[in-house]
Amino acid sequence: MSAAVMTPRAGLRQLASGGHPATPIWGYDGRVPGAEIRVRQGEWVERRLQNALPRPTTVHWHGIRIDNAMDGVPGLTQNPVPPGGHFDYDFIAPDAGTFWYHAHTQSMEQVARGLYGPLIIDEPSPPDADRDLPLLMDDWKLSPETFEIKDDFDNFHDLSHAGRIGNVITVNGQASAHFAVRRHQRLRLRLINAANARIFDIGLSGLGGWVVALDGMPLDMPAPVTGALTIAPAQRVDLLVDVLAGGGETAALLWRGHDGSHPLVRFSVTGGTRVRRPAPGPLPPNSLPEIVDAANAPLHRLVMRGGAMHALPPATLNGTLMQPRELALLGKFWTLNGVVGMAHQPFFDVARGRTLRIAFINDTGFHHAMHLHGHHFRPIAGDGSLGPWRDTVLVRPGHARQVAMVADNPGKWLLHCHMLSHAASGMMTWFNVRA
Ligand code: C2O
Ligand code: CU
Repeated sequence: MSAAVMTPRAGLRQLASGGHPATPIWGYDGRVPGAEIRVRQGEWVERRLQNALPRPTTVHWHGIRIDNAMDGVPGLTQNPVPPGGHFDYDFIAPDAGTFWYHAHTQSMEQVARGLYGPLIIDEPSPPDADRDLPLLMDDWKLSPETFEIKDDFDNFHDLSHAGRIGNVITVNGQASAHFAVRRHQRLRLRLINAANARIFDIGLSGLGGWVVALDGMPLDMPAPVTGALTIAPAQRVDLLVDVLAGGGETAALLWRGHDGSHPLVRFSVTGGTRVRRPAPGPLPPNSLPEIVDAANAPLHRLVMRGGAMHALPPATLNGTLMQPRELALLGKFWTLNGVVGMAHQPFFDVARGRTLRIAFINDTGFHHAMHLHGHHFRPIAGDGSLGPWRDTVLVRPGHARQVAMVADNPGKWLLHCHMLSHAASGMMTWFNVRA
């Protein structure tokens, strides 16, 4: 059997509403988002990447505990696929949950142009819900005159501040995403932050329910939604929500900006039933490694430095110690443990199966969404307890977060900030798990 083909290429998408022109994008098969890939837990995903872009590219299957050779990182796990070339991805999806795929070559540009899509792995018996809606949130930096994507991807301001923040917000490539629902329907909403750098704060209106999974991994118990949900770039939040608004009303997901709340997704409500379903139980757990005695596991410190308003000490780029002024001229504004971008030596090198801790120490004035490839980890709370499994952790300015993990997936894995402008500007390293 030959695998299905996914073809990243140029396309056109109506991103801005209000009679503005459509926007030239890059998308898988020319679409934004790319087609939903959905298989059952434990099944194979097989796709031939056929590159119809004018640039080399690769695909990363974000959050999948994948075979290293399929991870899509150019220079580390594969060669970039040249224009006209192809690469066959095939891997088992070990965990049920909400994942996504995106370009991982020049990602700061390629993801911002639209190269991403949902990757949904179904539980053997999915939870009771009337609708299952993957919702890929993004922001686009469009020219206010032409509505074309601004191609200033590597402008020094975005690189050295919060990253590339757009002026048009979309869900599933639409400025005003809209669904028709019925009162008391239960919706499974799979929120995926595909933006380059924007942290979304999401609220519910006319909807009530629970967070049931984070970054693809089920919570031990559904957590009632009581306030805003903070979703950093690359993070996912699975909700089970009931439509509480009445017939004729509009329920919504809202996003909070500095100028107040705005609808992100609208749900127009008709009819429905009088009774709500009982509260849901937890999703079936994925088989993740057990973390034993985290407090005594070896601790690896990752110190983040740089960015606007925080002077960078001299730092190493490609093995050479350089002054911050020289680095800035090259668009390099950030360091991890004093190194800009990929170091020759891995951040850590461990035998397979080892439990370890990482301390992410944010010595900068900006947020960073730190992502590990090939593994999930658990944040360690102040009292030593382990939080929910994640693959991306948001570290606030001036704060530190410790996480614990079992390095059980052999290979060379990337670790980087998922604010893609930051990654391109220095915040990228790697670790090795020996087979
Ligand atoms: Cu979605 Cu290297 O990341
Ligand atoms: Cu960052």
